[in-house]
Amino acid sequence: MPSVVIVGAQWGDEGKGKITDFLARDADMVVRYQGGANAGHTVVVDGITYKLHLVPSGIIHGKTCVIGNGCVVDPETLLREIEYLHGHGVDTQGRLWISDAAHLIMPYHQRLDALQEQLRGDQRIGTTGRGIGPAYADKAARTGIRVGDLLDEALFRQRLERNVRQLNDLMHRVYDSEPFDVRAIAEQYLDLASRLRPYITDTAALINEALDQGRRVLFEGAQGTMLDLDHGSYPYVTSSYPSAGGACIGAGVGPTRIDHVIGVAKAYTSRVGDGPFPTELDDEIGEWIRQKGREFGTTTGRPRRCGWLDAVVLRHAVQVSGLGGLALVHLDTLGGLERVRIASAYEYRGQRLERLPHGAHQLAQCRPIYEELPGWDEDISSARRFEDLPENARNYVRRVEALVGVPVQLLSIGPDRAQTIALDDVFAAAARARGAGAR
Ligand code: IMP
Repeated sequence: MPSVVIVGAQWGDEGKGKITDFLARDADMVVRYQGGANAGHTVVVDGITYKLHLVPSGIIHGKTCVIGNGCVVDPETLLREIEYLHGHGVDTQGRLWISDAAHLIMPYHQRLDALQEQLRGDQRIGTTGRGIGPAYADKAARTGIRVGDLLDEALFRQRLERNVRQLNDLMHRVYDSEPFDVRAIAEQYLDLASRLRPYITDTAALINEALDQGRRVLFEGAQGTMLDLDHGSYPYVTSSYPSAGGACIGAGVGPTRIDHVIGVAKAYTSRVGDGPFPTELDDEIGEWIRQKGREFGTTTGRPRRCGWLDAVVLRHAVQVSGLGGLALVHLDTLGGLERVRIASAYEYRGQRLERLPHGAHQLAQCRPIYEELPGWDEDISSARRFEDLPENARNYVRRVEALVGVPVQLLSIGPDRAQTIALDDVFAAAARARGAGAR
């Protein structure tokens, strides 16, 4: 049975929640493979709006959901989310699993996140303040504490004491900030541990077993390609790997088990946080898109920066994640504009660039080269088939496909599930890809 990875093809907030929700109904298992509560998904199911940060939205449909080893987990936020789901009548017992190898976000990670941002001054990254960067830094430095460590009190206390001892020295000398109380943190986390215990397991084994048994597994990326630690606009990135390769490491499955990757992209571009954004619109059209597209962050409430679609960014996503198709969302948001634009390339130091340059410093010097297309006035949110769309909207979609080089498989024209046009069956495409691979 096929497996599919869903990745953000831009700077995050592409609407992966809705697409995951759409595909999750045909899946048996949904796996988050990186990031933490910096992500935010809004999904509308049967008229009820759910806002989730860490738990895959597949839980609402009774699917087995996994928070993989590549994620960083703030246990308090996670338990709050579990209670929120219970409050909405969604059962999690025996359905939600958390990797024992995922790393914990500790209270000191959150404070460090804020202190480091302050120190960066006008070069700040604009993080979500959830402690993501410092938690992954501890992981890479081999001083992280993992979810499974919570189940061994002596080990947990030992690791915590070692970390806090070193950190308090740093708090005092570098940041002129209050020391951390190791006992208070230990009590808080060990209390949370007793509530998390039933959810903790070896999730890599669970996912591989599901694949062995022929189950359909959906891997759900958070953030987006341009926020990838290696492949994004470094250093204005998050500290994990949203691109498709991250699914293998962050879930514990081999690359040969992935059949298809679909990239989610808005019909325009948005980003939160700082850093270069070549197609940003700092004018009334940008504001119009922000209002019409309700572009305010789920996690932080921050207004998102908005601009035209950037085909250079999307081609980059195709390259680094091996996208086999796109889910193009928010096409309805562009309706009502007389003319719409797509950046097909950049101008960089007098030269035409078809590919993304090395990093944020170079990206900041790129000027978009635009193609202009006629817009459409009609409200398209009630269209149910591609043929129902006005000609100019169809031409826009076809032009995106031509510029990016992969087909649009799903088209979203509103927040509701019914407002999704499937131009292809994504799991069938995955099965085809698997068949082709087998030959
Ligand atoms: P961090 O992940 O909190 O460290 O933030 C690093 C960068 O990633 C900042 O620009 C954030 O705004 C951005 N970011 C993190 N999570 C998301 C997300 O879910 N959507 C969009 N941007 C995000």
